[in-house]
Amino acid sequence: MPERVKVAVVGVGNNVSALVQGIARHRATGTLVGVRRPVLDGLGVGDVDFVAAFATSPEKIGTDLGEAIFLPPNNFPRIASELPPLGVTVRRGLTGDDPGEVERVTGDLGGAEVVLYAAPSGRPETARAYAEAALRAGAAFVNTTSDAVARDPRLLSRYAAAGLPLLGDDLASQFGTSVVHHALLRLLEERGLTLTSSYQVNLGGTEDFRNLVEHSNTKHQSKLNALGADGAGAGRVQVAPLGYLPHLESQKVAHINIEAQAWGETPVSVDVKLKVHDPSGAAGVNIDLIRIAASALRQHRAGYPAEATPLLKSPPGTPI
Ligand SMILES: NC(=O)c1ccc[n+]([C@@H]2O[C@H](COP(=O)([O-])OP(=O)(O)OC[C@H]3O[C@@H](n4cnc5c(N)ncnc54)[C@H](O)[C@@H]3O)[C@@H](O)[C@H]2O)c1
Repeated sequence: MPERVKVAVVGVGNNVSALVQGIARHRATGTLVGVRRPVLDGLGVGDVDFVAAFATSPEKIGTDLGEAIFLPPNNFPRIASELPPLGVTVRRGLTGDDPGEVERVTGDLGGAEVVLYAAPSGRPETARAYAEAALRAGAAFVNTTSDAVARDPRLLSRYAAAGLPLLGDDLASQFGTSVVHHALLRLLEERGLTLTSSYQVNLGGTEDFRNLVEHSNTKHQSKLNALGADGAGAGRVQVAPLGYLPHLESQKVAHINIEAQAWGETPVSVDVKLKVHDPSGAAGVNIDLIRIAASALRQHRAGYPAEATPLLKSPPGTPI
């Protein structure tokens, strides 16, 4: 039996809540509903232990991770009937790239093999400062945000030289707008139809949505990357600005429209409405990214592990 993976989480938001609770629920009930890979390189869903956590909000700092995940503005519901204290006290995170602070966080990583970076998107310097701390601590780094970390060639080559895996950027939700939209566009092409125009609209009520409405700089391009919108469909696939509707809470509502032409230039129209709990879509992918990162680290496979590509919107080489 391989040893459990030691994980440090950066950002104690909705995605970490869904991940922590989902693992607890799996351990308590054995459920595999919504699990893409029950076992990945010998590691089960329950083989992940949290050893460190970082936050910036004063309410979360100093509390147990098992309590902090329920504090507002987190609004992902309770899915684990019982969650005993995890024995991990949330520590103060980085807010800039001050070298002394990076050193402190390096020391606080608690022997983590994998650092899961789940802070808000749109703060590339902070993302890279945490990646620096993980590098110094000898840990693999998973960037779930749309900020360029694995797409930064200098950082990626430093990870490769240090013998460490670096995964990112921007997780592709398990069954989110990007994968559904991409699959429909691919189907259209495979069946020989001609795309006329397409768009997606995303509405949500999480803190992530609220943040992205204000800091959409890296997210918009990342969403286009996930659709391959720089390829054949360039200019014809649009991603509308995100909408923040607090009453949706952790649910996301997406509308996808595709207009195309079929045989004889006759019109075809497709409209899809998707409703999901956004943090669940992230957790279902983060559980695999963590195990891929741990496995690559243990097998001394440095740099970017190619098997992570289907789980990401913007892997290395895609536009920033
Ligand atoms: N389906 C999805 O939910 C999805 C998909 C793709 C990418 N993402 C990305 O995943 C990330 C996490 O999403 P979320 O819904 O959990 O967001 P969230 O806003 O609920 O959680 C982020 C947490 O990080 C904290 N934080 C802010 N600055 C920090 C810092 N410097 N150090 C440590 N913590 C800090 C915030 O206070 C917050 O608690 C976001 O960047 C989001 O864009 C999410």
